[in-house]
Amino acid sequence: MSVPIVRTLKELRVTVANWRSHHAKVAVVPTMGALHEGHLSLVRAAFEKADRVIVTLFVNPKQFNSAADLAAYPRTELSDAAKLAPLGVHMLYAPDASEIYPDGFSSNVSVTGVSEGLCGAFRPGHFDGVATVVAKLFLQTGADLALFGEKDFQQLHVVRRMARDLDIPIEIIGCPTVRESDGLALSSRNVRLTAQERALAPRLYEILSSTAERITGGSGVQSALDTARSDILAAGFQSVEYLEYRTESDLLPLSIPDREGRLLVAAWLGQTRLIDNVEVAVASKELTF
Ligand code: PAF
Repeated sequence: MSVPIVRTLKELRVTVANWRSHHAKVAVVPTMGALHEGHLSLVRAAFEKADRVIVTLFVNPKQFNSAADLAAYPRTELSDAAKLAPLGVHMLYAPDASEIYPDGFSSNVSVTGVSEGLCGAFRPGHFDGVATVVAKLFLQTGADLALFGEKDFQQLHVVRRMARDLDIPIEIIGCPTVRESDGLALSSRNVRLTAQERALAPRLYEILSSTAERITGGSGVQSALDTARSDILAAGFQSVEYLEYRTESDLLPLSIPDREGRLLVAAWLGQTRLIDNVEVAVASKELTF
C-alpha cells in the first residue's frame, strides 16, 4: 500500500471536504520530512484520536537562518512516503512551494512573548517562519487536531499561542520526545554528527536529567545551572547557547521549583546544534528555598 501524495491546495481541499461529508475527524502532523521514529510516534498518536491522518512535508525556507542550513536540510520524500505507508496515513501533503508562498506573498505571522529568548534569541525570524507556515497548514488542511513533538518545546508554545490568538479551531497536542536507547533525542539533524560526536551527544540528556533532579532535590537553581553548563562543555560540546529553567505552562523564567518547570538547552557539538528539554518536578513542600 502506498500513501497518496497531494501537491495542490485544490486537491487537498476536495479530499478533506469529502472526508468531512462522512463526518470524519481529521488530524494533521506537520513535518519538514527526513522522518524518524519521533515523527512516526506523532502519526501513531494521531490515529488514536482521528479518523483521517494527513502528514505534511514542506521544507519551509522562511524558518531557516542561513541559506547553507536550508540547502543542507535532508530531502527524502520517497523514503518518507515509504515509512508512512505501513501506518496507513491517508495523505502526504507535499505542496509545491507556490501553494504555500504564491507570487506576491506578503504576510507574516509573528507571535511575541513565548517566542522570545531561548531559540528565539539565537534564531532571529525563525519562529515567525514557523508560525506563518503552520498557520497556513492549519487553514489549508482545516484539520481538527495537530500533533507536535515536545522536543521543540518552544515551538509547541508558539504554535499553541498562534492558534489561540487567531481563533483557528484546532486542538494542539504535544507528544513526548522520542529518544535513542542511550537517551539522545531523535532529530533529523543527528545524521550530521560524526561517530565521535554521536558517542558523546547523549551526555546532554544525562546532564539535563541529573540537573532537573538536583533542582527538585533542593539545590540552588543558579548553582545547578552553572554546574550543568560546565559539565556540558567538559563533555566535549563547543558551546552552550542557552540553558534555562522555565515554567512548563508559559515559558516564564523560574527560580525555584514551586511549580511545574522545564530545563531547556541548546548546545553545539561540532557543526551540529542540538536542542533538548526535560521536565523538572515540583519540590516537596518540606524543602525550604
Ligand atoms: O518542527 C518542524 O519540523 C517544523 O518546524 C514545522 C512545524 C513542520 C514547521 O515547518
